[in-house]
Amino acid sequence: MKVLIPLVGLGGLTTLAIISILLAGLFNAWLGQPLPVLGFEQTFDQPINFPHTKHAAPVSEGGLGMDCTYCHRTVAKASSAHVPAVELCASCHRAVGSYESEDLIKLREASGIFENAEDKQVIVDSEMASPINWRRVHRLPDHVRFVHSAHIDYLTNHPSAIGNVPDRLDLEGKETVPASQVCSTCHGDVASMEKVYQVEPLKMGQCVNCHRKNGGPTDCAACHH
Ligand code: HEC
Ligand code: HEC
Ligand code: HEC
Ligand code: HEC
Ligand code: HEC
Repeated sequence: MKVLIPLVGLGGLTTLAIISILLAGLFNAWLGQPLPVLGFEQTFDQPINFPHTKHAAPVSEGGLGMDCTYCHRTVAKASSAHVPAVELCASCHRAVGSYESEDLIKLREASGIFENAEDKQVIVDSEMASPINWRRVHRLPDHVRFVHSAHIDYLTNHPSAIGNVPDRLDLEGKETVPASQVCSTCHGDVASMEKVYQVEPLKMGQCVNCHRKNGGPTDCAACHH
């Protein structure tokens, strides 16, 4: 017994040490990257607080009902969905929206639009324009290849494979749906997000599972460079 007690003590201490190291690692990972501990709801403050709710939500929910593809123009044609240049925003916001809104002031300045403080004249100087550096919310590692167009094409023609369908939509019995109704599968209901966050893990297991179910490619080279 006299020999055992210190041994047990030592075992307890070692276990405690290992647990602390693991916990410290977890805590550190959580600080740097909330993904694995808090679910997948990673999000960032953007340089301009762009509300999808105001633009993309249906008119019945107080939005403008803009189609996702109006801004994410290449999503059905190319690998990347495309985030619009500030000129597209300015096509409306030169005139639309308050000249007092901090976010819209930033937006207008980024497209070279300024209001003269004295006479309230609007000055446009494209040389003063600068792109907005939106932060990426969804990003796969560099060794992975993802192609939006192939997925949009498949899902618009196979609505039963669409996931996270928002309550407002009824896809029952539909043979085809517009591109903007398939995004929820991987991105959730962005139209109702004040700030975009990641809803799905988008890890290899999820990709491969869906490929198995729907006849997508499962060889390594399809997704890896
Ligand atoms: C089709 C026209 C249109 C386009 C294009 C557009 N918006 Fe808007 N946006 C609006 C309208 C309308 C509102 C609501 C304005 C209001 O409530 O005063 C709005 C509201 C906003 C607001 C909230 C302003 C506030 O302080 O309340 C921001 C920020 C914004 N838009 C940014 C953008 C950005 C960034 C883009 C480009 C990616 C963009 N908008 C493209 C029409 C547009
Ligand atoms: C008025 C233009 C506009 C419309 C309409 C719009 N978006 Fe966006 N979207 C943006 C801008 C600007 C960003 C970058 C800023 C941000 O993340 O909020 C963005 C970001 C995103 C992102 C995150 C991209 C990343 O960094 O990973 C997703 C996903 C997305 N949009 C999906 C949608 C979907 C789905 C719809 C339709 C329901 C939609 N968007 C409609 C302008 C728009
Ligand atoms: C099958 C899953 C899937 C579907 C469906 C999907 N996306 Fe994506 N999306 C992704 C993944 C994965 C990424 C990250 C890609 C990367 O890092 O290379 C992404 C990135 C994005 C981005 C940011 C980067 C870029 O490509 O410009 C935007 C914006 C976006 N998606 C919008 C949309 C819109 C709008 C739709 C619907 C029309 C849509 N996505 C449908 C999986 C999907
Ligand atoms: C909702 C189900 C679904 C999910 C989730 C999904 N895929 Fe796919 N993917 C498909 C289907 C179906 C095809 C085949 C489309 C076709 O050939 O018409 C495909 C095709 C592809 C292709 C081949 C595109 C081409 O034309 O070369 C790549 C690459 C790919 N997917 C990567 C991914 C990656 C990476 C992920 C995870 C981030 C993913 N997919 C998630 C269903 C899915
Ligand atoms: C349908 C798309 C798809 C296919 C097919 C696929 N992968 Fe992946 N793979 C991914 C994605 C997405 C990631 C990045 C996300 C993650 O780490 O899960 C990834 C990550 C990886 C990683 C890195 C894991 C890590 O921890 O960083 C390895 C290694 C890998 N894949 C090997 C393979 C091998 C080997 C095959 C063939 C048997 C294969 N993959 C087939 C999509 C795919």
